[in-house]
Amino acid sequence: DPTSTFAPRLLAWHRQCGRHDLPWQNTRDAYRIWLSEIMLQQTQVETVIPYYARFLAAFPDLAALAAAPVEAVMAQWSGLGYYARARNLHACARQVMSAHGGQFPATAEQIAALPGIGRSTAAAIAAFSQGERAAILDGNVKRVLCRAFGVEGFPGSAAVEKQLWTLAEALLPDAQIGDYIQAQMDLGATVCTRGTPKCAACPLAEDCVARLTDQIPSLPTPRPR
Ligand code: ADE
Ligand code: SF4
Repeated sequence: DPTSTFAPRLLAWHRQCGRHDLPWQNTRDAYRIWLSEIMLQQTQVETVIPYYARFLAAFPDLAALAAAPVEAVMAQWSGLGYYARARNLHACARQVMSAHGGQFPATAEQIAALPGIGRSTAAAIAAFSQGERAAILDGNVKRVLCRAFGVEGFPGSAAVEKQLWTLAEALLPDAQIGDYIQAQMDLGATVCTRGTPKCAACPLAEDCVARLTDQIPSLPTPRPR
């Protein structure tokens, strides 16, 4: 069972193979981290980079974003797609100004109460900006956990999702939370991909249940139909 070695293996992999120079890394500025997480939700890293730079030039801080008309925000977002993200971003900025005195909230719980921010995104923002020990569970992480631990059942069902949140929380390391969260995201995006994962490059391969039991083609379990 890969439980006790999971976090140390991911952290070692991230140190060796991860990217450490992306524009939203090496900062604890919650505004910048929040913006990057919203852009990265449905858009690839390479696409986000130029949009992120232009957006920050137009709206250098949360107060500037809140003060801007929503049309100006939409104009900066134009081309990135999933435009509800931009509307929610603007609504969040205004809510942080009015309800949090302009200070981006510090805890995952408070962040998750903002418009359009789910539990996993809130946890990522709190982990990167505050080092909060909060678990994430996006589609990539679900896939990694289902395979590495042999979790069966559709991961979008309430019961399996609950099981995965419990597992994700049990796996959290005591330190280096930001690096650990980034490593989870990167492993799912680049190594443990949909289709045929790159197990030869995976730090979890040695005791990955799906690999050892030939269940990679059937995990994660597809949506029942
Ligand atoms: N997707 C969501 N957040 C991300 C991040 N911080 N790095 C890479 N991909 C992501
Ligand atoms: Fe995914 Fe392969 Fe790593 Fe298992 S060994 S977690 S299937 S990449």
